[in-house]
Amino acid sequence: MVVHLNWLIREAREVDLAEIMKLEHACFGSDSWSENNMRAELVEHHTYYLVAEIDGQLVGYAGLSKLPSSEQSDIQTIAVAASQRGTGLGRELMHRLIARAKELGSKEMFLEVRADNPIAQKLYRKLGFVQISLRKNYYQPDGVDALIMRLDLERFEVPGIGQKQPIVLGIESSCDETGVGIVRGATLLANVISSSMDEHARFGGVVPEIAARAHLEALKPTLREALSQAGLSIDDVDAIAVTNGPGLGGALMVGVGAAKALAVATGKPIYAVNHLVGHVGVDVLERGVVETPTIALLVSGGHTSLLLVRDLLDDVELLGETIDDAAGEAFDKVARVLGLKYPGGPEIDRAAEGGDPKAIRFPRGLSLPKDMEKHRYDFSFSGLKTAVARHVELAESRGEAFSRADVAASFREAVVDVLVTKAVNACKDHGVPRLLLGGGVVANRRLREFAQEQCDKHGIELRIPALSLCTDNGAMIAALGAQLIMAGREPSSLDFSAVSTLPVTQVQSL
Ligand code: KG4
Ligand code: ZN
Repeated sequence: MVVHLNWLIREAREVDLAEIMKLEHACFGSDSWSENNMRAELVEHHTYYLVAEIDGQLVGYAGLSKLPSSEQSDIQTIAVAASQRGTGLGRELMHRLIARAKELGSKEMFLEVRADNPIAQKLYRKLGFVQISLRKNYYQPDGVDALIMRLDLERFEVPGIGQKQPIVLGIESSCDETGVGIVRGATLLANVISSSMDEHARFGGVVPEIAARAHLEALKPTLREALSQAGLSIDDVDAIAVTNGPGLGGALMVGVGAAKALAVATGKPIYAVNHLVGHVGVDVLERGVVETPTIALLVSGGHTSLLLVRDLLDDVELLGETIDDAAGEAFDKVARVLGLKYPGGPEIDRAAEGGDPKAIRFPRGLSLPKDMEKHRYDFSFSGLKTAVARHVELAESRGEAFSRADVAASFREAVVDVLVTKAVNACKDHGVPRLLLGGGVVANRRLREFAQEQCDKHGIELRIPALSLCTDNGAMIAALGAQLIMAGREPSSLDFSAVSTLPVTQVQSL
């Protein structure tokens, strides 16, 4: 059984206070800080607090204090929910605080730890802290001693830590989501999305012209909201990143135009990045790095791509993609056939409940032995869609009732079967023990379940980022931009354009 870590670490905000207090009480009982103390800590200028979430649920936090006049910093507190102990979350939070302390110019770091907490002491020692003194009877009322520990930050080196973490604003407009995200290095500061999905509903699919116009209207307010969520002004941003493809031409042009205008107006560098690689790079926001090599399966309303990522910035290979409809599009079209609303994915998930996935054996596209030679990693869903339509039409023409639940469940099974089987094949063929999922279709329950089952069976580690990071968003674009900057890449010139068919090998357009 592989352990799956899905935390998202981001900077704490005052609105997190209630959840932080709940965890504070669960972790520290009668030793807990008061809510007022905690609020003061969160809003102080010389403190820096992080929270970790899993699916929106707070599972950890940690804070640092560093006075501008001093070269030392102090770990104020760190708490990890019982369910997450032993997962490495404490270590990850500490790493991030240490990185931030170094960036703020600290030369040494201090902390206090209870003498009766050997697990925490072990973590700190592993990070390089050494005990410098003991305070007797420090923790009241039980009179437990405190160990005072110190870390020499000038000698502390972990790859990537201590490096300047650039603040990057990312703009995404390749399909129907206008996304603006802000990161500092690999830490999420804001992720705001405005979707024009409702406007496409009556057409049963994304209408490019409507999407482009909606981006135009949504960009300014989305940008403003993202800056306010991060508590920053545009001057605080170090660089701008933007999706320049692949995607809908007109939609891409709106984001690219806005990003260029912003870069010219502010004099900030701009990075034009690949949307698909952004879906993979988003994992840095949860893990700090994208572990490679990894196979990535990206499934949304616009794409179905299977990638082999040997290196996020330098070596991304397209193994296969859909030769007709995208997986999400297939859900949307079949939903229509079944008289369900747009977007079809969640509707079909619901309709499939209680249905028999084996009731109808719908075709698995490009999975016959002859297809597996030429199209081993490619997908095709249009035959499946037609088969569902035929099945329904035939039943109706005969005046027979058909079970919508069975049709939905059998259709979903066919899609999921092909997606997961091909992705797992790619892992096995290339000896890659990791699979990362991305795109809106990842919300599908059966897909998550079957992927987990198959990955467990074949010893593959499955990574599914939080759903808000799986669907199209600006944070993934900002995160990829930040990775490029930290790797020392030059910014793009202002001459790059929106390319609707941008190949996945082109991570950055210069
Ligand atoms: O990544 P995404 O939000 O954006 C675009 O493609 O623009 O993906 C949206 C797609 C839609 O086609 C929708 O039907 C599909 O993801 N989707 C799902 C589910 N939720 C959303 N497909 C299958 N099962 C779901 N639960
Ligand atoms: Zn996408």
